[in-house]
Amino acid sequence: MKLIHISDLHFGLHNEQFINAFLADLQEIKPDIVIMSGDLTQRAKRWQFRLLNDFFKKLPGIYLVVPGNHDIPLYNPFLRLFQPFNRYKKYVSTSLKSSFENEYVRILGVNSVNPSKVKSGIISNHLMDEVFDHFSEETPQLNILFFHHNFNYFSGLHNPLHNSKIFIERLKKSPIHLVCTGHLHYANLMMINKENQRACAVLHAGSLSCLRTKDGKNSYYSIEINGLKCTIDWRIFSDLSFKSNEIFPIDFSEIVEE
Ligand SMILES: [Fe+2]
Repeated sequence: MKLIHISDLHFGLHNEQFINAFLADLQEIKPDIVIMSGDLTQRAKRWQFRLLNDFFKKLPGIYLVVPGNHDIPLYNPFLRLFQPFNRYKKYVSTSLKSSFENEYVRILGVNSVNPSKVKSGIISNHLMDEVFDHFSEETPQLNILFFHHNFNYFSGLHNPLHNSKIFIERLKKSPIHLVCTGHLHYANLMMINKENQRACAVLHAGSLSCLRTKDGKNSYYSIEINGLKCTIDWRIFSDLSFKSNEIFPIDFSEIVEE
C-alpha cells in the first residue's frame, strides 16, 4: 500500500503552485492514505481553514491529520489559552487524535501543541502512556506514529519537543517502526536502533507548500509499504513539479548491527 506524509502546509502563507503540483503528483501515485503532521494553516484564521477544507476535498483516499503550533490563534490570548483548538475542531476534526488500522498498517496521530508556548511542543506523560499503550503489542502490521514537533536537534534550528529524551527511551522499547513529524521545514531521516535490534525510522518532513523553508526546498514523502519493508521516496518541487530526489529502502524486520 502507499502512504503519503506531508507537513507544514501553512495555508495563508502557501504557494498555490506547490499545492497544485502535489495534487497532480497524487493522481499518478494513487495513495491509499495521506497523513499530515500539522501546521495546516499559517495563523488559524477562518479563511485559511476554508482553503484547507478545499484541499481536503481534492485528496484521494483516506487522510489523517493532527494540529501544529500554527493551527491555534497566536494574537488572541483569550482564544489561545482558553479555546485554542476551537477553530481546528470546527474546520478540521473534533478530535486532536487521528487513527487508522487495516491488515497492513496501524497508524496513530497525536497532538504535540503546547498552547502556553509559541513554538515549543510537548507530549505529556499521560499522552505518552496512551501512545505506548496503543502500540503495546507486537502485531504483523507496520506501526506508524505521527505528531507535529521534531524531537531530534539540528544545529541552528528550533529545539526539540520538550521531554524528547524520555520519549526516545520509550520508543526504543516499543514496536513502533516509523515516526513522522514536521515543524522545522527541514527534511531529514534519522534511524534509531531499538532494544530488540530492529530499526525505527524518524521522518521529519519538510514543508509541502510554505513560502518559508529552512532547507530551501518544498518537499514531501511518498512511502510504499510491503509488510515490514518500506521504500521512502523524498519528492522535491523543482521545474513546476515534484520529482523523486532520493529513495530510502528500509527493512524493519532486519537485525541492525550496533
Ligand atoms: Fe510550520
